[in-house]
Amino acid sequence: MAAKILAFSGSLRKDSLNRKLLWQAGQLAAFHGAEFREINLNDFELPFYNSEIQEVGFPAAADRLKAEVDEHDAILIVSPEYNHSFPAVVKNAIDWLSRYRPNPLSGKQGMLMSASPGMVGGNRGLWHLRQPLEVCGVHVHPNMFSLANAGDAFADDGTLKDAAMQRRLEETIISYIHLIDKVRR
Ligand code: FNR
Repeated sequence: MAAKILAFSGSLRKDSLNRKLLWQAGQLAAFHGAEFREINLNDFELPFYNSEIQEVGFPAAADRLKAEVDEHDAILIVSPEYNHSFPAVVKNAIDWLSRYRPNPLSGKQGMLMSASPGMVGGNRGLWHLRQPLEVCGVHVHPNMFSLANAGDAFADDGTLKDAAMQRRLEETIISYIHLIDKVRR
C-alpha cells in the first residue's frame, strides 16, 4: 500500500510561494509512489481555540480536519515564516487537533518545508513548528527543506529553476517516503 501523505500550506494566500512549493513536493511524492492529498486551511474555518467552545462540542471544521489526519500516515506542512516563527493559523489547527483523545497527530510521520523571498528560506519558523508537533507525538523527519529567494525560484512548469535545489527537494521527498514505508511495515 502506498504511503498516504496529507499536506497543507501554512499560508492562506492563493498565490502563496509555500503552496507552490507544496505543489511541487506533491508532484514528486506522487511520482515516487505516495498517495498525496493536499488540503487548504481556508476550507477549515476553525475559530480560535477556546475550551468553552470545545465543551459545547468540537466545531465541524475541527472534526473534518481530524478525519483527514486519521486517514493518513504522514503530514507534510509547508509553511511561511512569520516573525521568525510560524503562522497562527497553523498553531490553531494543531491546538484543536491536540484536544481529541487519542491525539490524532500521535504517531504520524511529519515533514516540514518552507519558502520565503528572504535569504534564510523560512527555516527558523520550522524549528518552532517542530516543537508543538513533537509534543503531540509527531515523528518529525530530521531533514527539512527551506527555499530561499522563493519569489524567483520557480520555473513556469512549477519545478525549481536551480537543478541542485530541485534534486535536494526530490531526495528529501524520497527519504520521507522510505521512512513512512518502513515504519508502516
Ligand atoms: C513575513 N515574512 C517573513 N519572511 C521571512 O523570511 N522571515 C520572517 O520572519 C517573516 N516575517 C513575516 C511576518 C508576516 C506577518 C508576514 C505577512 C510576512 C515574509 C514572508 O516570507 C512572505 O510574505 C512570504 O511570501 C509568505 O509566504 P506565502 O504566503 O508566499 O506562502
